[in-house]
Amino acid sequence: MVLSAHSEDTSNFWMSQINRIPWQKKPTVSYGPGVDGLNHWFPDGILNTSYLALDHHIESGKGEDTAIIYDSPVTKTKTKLSYFQLLESVEKMAFVLDSFGVKKGDTVVIYMPMIPEALVSMLACARIGAVHSVVFGGFAPHELAVRLDDCRPKLVITSSYGVEVSKIIPYKPLLDEAMHLSNHKPEYVILKSRPNLEVIMHTGRDFDWDELMETAGKKKSVPVSASDPLYILYTSGTTGKPKGVVRDNGGHAIAMHYSMETIYDMKPGEVFFAASDVGWVVGHSYIVYAPLIYGCTTVLYEGKPVRTPDAGAFYRIIEEYNVKTLFCAPTAFRAIRKEDPEGKELSKYNISSLKYLFLAGERTDPVTYDWACELLKVPVVDHWWQTETGWAIAANMMGSNPLPAKAGSATKPVTGFDVRILDEEGHEVNQGEKGNIVIKLPLPPGCLPTLWMDHKNYESSYLSHYPGYYLTGDGGYFDEDGYLFILGRIDDVINVAGHRLSTGEMEEIVAENPAIAESAVIGIADEIKGQVPLAIVVCKDGVVLEEKAVESDITHRIREKIGAIASLKTVVFVKRLPKTRSGKILRKTMRKMIDGETYVIPSTIDDPSILEEVMDAVQLKIQR
Ligand code: COA
Ligand code: AMP
Repeated sequence: MVLSAHSEDTSNFWMSQINRIPWQKKPTVSYGPGVDGLNHWFPDGILNTSYLALDHHIESGKGEDTAIIYDSPVTKTKTKLSYFQLLESVEKMAFVLDSFGVKKGDTVVIYMPMIPEALVSMLACARIGAVHSVVFGGFAPHELAVRLDDCRPKLVITSSYGVEVSKIIPYKPLLDEAMHLSNHKPEYVILKSRPNLEVIMHTGRDFDWDELMETAGKKKSVPVSASDPLYILYTSGTTGKPKGVVRDNGGHAIAMHYSMETIYDMKPGEVFFAASDVGWVVGHSYIVYAPLIYGCTTVLYEGKPVRTPDAGAFYRIIEEYNVKTLFCAPTAFRAIRKEDPEGKELSKYNISSLKYLFLAGERTDPVTYDWACELLKVPVVDHWWQTETGWAIAANMMGSNPLPAKAGSATKPVTGFDVRILDEEGHEVNQGEKGNIVIKLPLPPGCLPTLWMDHKNYESSYLSHYPGYYLTGDGGYFDEDGYLFILGRIDDVINVAGHRLSTGEMEEIVAENPAIAESAVIGIADEIKGQVPLAIVVCKDGVVLEEKAVESDITHRIREKIGAIASLKTVVFVKRLPKTRSGKILRKTMRKMIDGETYVIPSTIDDPSILEEVMDAVQLKIQR
């Protein structure tokens, strides 16, 4: 079904989907003002997301079904939790949160590794109508502090450490440091202890998860409005201030359920493996909420695609747990291919249960796509989406309308997303022509209604560029068959190993080095990670410096402030940066030149010789 704009058809279509989930009060209105006065889907519906994901399945006689398979090669642990067992833990944690005074509408930050307690925490918040904000464990204290200040949680849930291949990441001291840096000081911390690491606890503030759970009662789910927020998930924008994407309860539940059937072709009871992290949107939607709301088994994997212990890790999981659908970032398959190009590891496993590989988070290059198709012999589905939308904007909808695939394309817009390509003036371009990808308003259920406590920023970031349309921030085109090709970001956002990061923020951090006059950080192609940042810097006149020392200071600052995942390793020193006559740095031109793409030097360039100088310096340093 093709739905365009907000018409009777759109309203009727989404209203026809409401019986997918059990409501406490069914909505009678498809789209309109919710409790916050902003537009939401199903605004007068009442429900509870934790009830949908847990109690409902138990009431339907599926309590013994496996909800979570936790597989952690890094700690050599494997556990299964039935829906009964998961509900029991969630009821207790909800009770604990309630006893700490966490009420409906309060915020809770969750800073945890990939352990079942992270999911329990999320669902416990949902149960009492508290709004969780999960912060990816790879973020440094500064990033965590920025999020604490923005969403002002009453309480933080954490764990003593995460495990990265062979090293430990001590989360609790990182949280302590973040709480030292932040202006907002959460009242309480709940800590899930992991073995063999002593953690310093602050009396009166820090409490032990296990002790609290031992004496906890059970908390029933509280009714919330479909328009009430379920969670906030921060994502990188163009500046150092991340955007707090808000997800409401009602639209999200419908979108999650609908997508499991129509996009991923899942049936309740089957096994879904999203190899991401609960700190990212893929983790929220497809490790936690969608599989559980839909009654599937979700695999919670605390490991990497390679090195834990080898490039056969995903195949082992598929065989061991009968995985039907695997969802990961293309970078994972690039890493597997690099270590095992002939697919020798695969021959050790029986992966006949696997029906699909879905890829998202960054562009899938045709080489990786072809290799994965050839190796796995199942459909490889590249689909395109963002933290903001919470589910796929464009995909091959394997459960409802499978189409022949085209390498490099995310196939066609998903039902409910009216995708257009506009030029700078807002005119629709012809098929085959490139432009800015936008979505005609309103966005379908599940997409962000606003940014946390900052609706103005929501409007200026996404809606004001083209009135009536949501600006995705990606460029692309439709081919002659209506297939959508994503060409990459049109702003200062890059994707490093599927992690969305802001080069604008990196430039702000580079500028903190006292020797730096100005800089440009750009994302350049990387064989495994898709993109990695490269800093091109100009030092202040008269500064006597050791380039090596400045480079190491800059890379250290980025690690300290954003986290090791940013992977900024190279700094190029130049005398001047290439600019237009109006002073705009030619970041895009430089990126294209470095990546060997076709480029056009803008006619407004101030001094072409500077561009040549800079490219020479870059080539010398990175030797491409
Ligand atoms: N907590 C703390 N630190 C983390 C972390 C986490 N959750 N995840 C990564 N890091 C650290 C790593 O330890 C590493 O630190 P180091 O520089 O001190 O060694 C750094 O961040 C970079 O790690 P990573 O991005 O994982 O690179 P890698 O070279 O170790 O591994 C891949 C490469 C491709 C195997 C890996 O990036 C990967 O598994 N990517 C998939 C990512 C993904 O699922 N994205 C979700 C999008 S859907
Ligand atoms: P995130 O919000 O972290 O999910 O990142 C969203 C961004 O990742 C998008 O705006 C795109 O730039 C990129 N992205 C996600 N999926 C794809 C895809 N299938 N192809 C190309 N880019 C993608």
